[in-house]
Amino acid sequence: MFFYDMIIQIDIWDRELQQENADFSRDTTMGRLDELLREMEEYARTHETPILTEAARPVYLRTVRAAAPRRILELGTAIGYSALLALREAPEAELVTVERDEALAETARENLCRAGKKYESRATILVGAAEKLLPTLSAPFDFVFIDAAKSRYPDFWLGVQPLLAPRAVVAADNVLFRGLVEGEGSEEWPKHSYRTMVLQLREYLRLVRSAPDFQTEVFPEGDGMAVSRRNE
Ligand SMILES: C[S@@+](CC[C@H](N)C(=O)[O-])C[C@H]1O[C@@H](n2cnc3c(N)ncnc32)[C@H](O)[C@@H]1O
Repeated sequence: MFFYDMIIQIDIWDRELQQENADFSRDTTMGRLDELLREMEEYARTHETPILTEAARPVYLRTVRAAAPRRILELGTAIGYSALLALREAPEAELVTVERDEALAETARENLCRAGKKYESRATILVGAAEKLLPTLSAPFDFVFIDAAKSRYPDFWLGVQPLLAPRAVVAADNVLFRGLVEGEGSEEWPKHSYRTMVLQLREYLRLVRSAPDFQTEVFPEGDGMAVSRRNE
């Protein structure tokens, strides 16, 4: 082998090695993220922190994927679990997520940090009440996930309207709350502790279904997820 051939051969080996290393680090990043997500699920279980349930997860993932959003808004961060899932499903998207509990927001920040720069650099966590922060946000968002105080869902729906992109998708979790909102078993007047929440969730469904620019589908998986697509 001539000297120049050798240099070229070494260069090829070098590039092959670099490619293998890049593939490997991509794989380990994926593996690490899966591990972190499992850890977060365990944390949520032991600390009784409500996060997206296993039953609702496929609907959520499918919805994010289909929306292919560039900007995501989430109301209710908790420990950052659904935020991380959304950032994974929409690898180009930026996400703004709002959490009123400072300690939870801090835990979410740590989790996003642990997920790596690829995720952390695309996420902004705002601490405060969503109803107060919504008017301060800048439009447009392609995908909105409503997962904060259920008794405020109608306010959240109205509050996000000026922020929506023309073909935005708005998903809201827990809209069927334990089967008390509609369908069989919901005929009785809800018991006192749930009354406001159930009535507000009914109002949410009334609002989304009567919104002229939106098509809404309610998926029964988990606690019910309403997915409203704007068709402007
Ligand atoms: C069901 S958890 C969110 C779970 C998270 N989306 C997930 O699946 O990983 C609801 C969160 O909303 C927060 N929250 C409740 N009311 C809120 C409000 N008005 N503004 C902002 N956050 C709120 C709670 O502190 C709680 O952490």
